[in-house]
Amino acid sequence: MKVVGILHGKGGVGKSTVAVNLARNLQLHGLDVVIIDCDAQGTSQSWKASRDDETDLPAVFGVDKASALESDVRRLSDSFDIAVIDGGAHLDKMHAAIIKTSDLTLIPVQPSPADIWPTEQIVDLIKQRQEVTGEPDAAFVISRRKVGSRLGQGVQDVLERFELPVWEGTCDRVAYPQAMGRGRSVVEMSDEKAAAEVESITENVINTLNHE
Ligand SMILES: Nc1ncnc2c1ncn2[C@@H]1O[C@H](COP(=O)(O)OP(=O)(O)OP(=O)(O)O)[C@@H](O)[C@H]1O
Ligand SMILES: [Mg+2]
Repeated sequence: MKVVGILHGKGGVGKSTVAVNLARNLQLHGLDVVIIDCDAQGTSQSWKASRDDETDLPAVFGVDKASALESDVRRLSDSFDIAVIDGGAHLDKMHAAIIKTSDLTLIPVQPSPADIWPTEQIVDLIKQRQEVTGEPDAAFVISRRKVGSRLGQGVQDVLERFELPVWEGTCDRVAYPQAMGRGRSVVEMSDEKAAAEVESITENVINTLNHE
């Protein structure tokens, strides 16, 4: 089983939005997917419970203790092709555990230095781990970029300093909260631009995991 960890030290940056959209789309690509929800708010569980038809969505598995994550992942690994971890905010031990168990870590950031600076500790942890084991891969995923806007020079400068790949990610679109409230991925709804964004994230994930 491959593991994709989605994490950031701040709340409200788009972790759960990326997690559920990615997980559901990976499932639509034919993979057996489990979402591991490390957030006490249980957003992924609420997302799944909001589905109003009989569609078989990815399994959601809650983990609240960092010390349990590794063994839980190992236990799930025979049953699924891929796990998407929705990491909560402000969970230092959990972040270390997610980085340790992930093949790929994604850091959603809104295109503002105020969202990017606080990721320094996470990026350091990822790089330390990479030096020892060569893993996990990592990328920033831009979240909620204003439609039609480009990343400002200030944002690009800060991102460059962290020396990680930067994926285009999501624009600010009503389709995302709408899909969340209906237990869907935007790829199942009518906003084709939102769907293309999630498809691009999904293809980046698949390509990165396959290159290993
Ligand atoms: N691309 C987007 N377009 C519009 N709204 C978005 C987008 N991405 C996220 N949001 C909205 O922003 C809010 C925060 O997103 P989300 O819940 O995914 O963040 P989070 O990092 O998981 O937050 P928390 O740390 O509280 O779990 C939600 O209301 C969500 O619907
Ligand atoms: Mg969340």
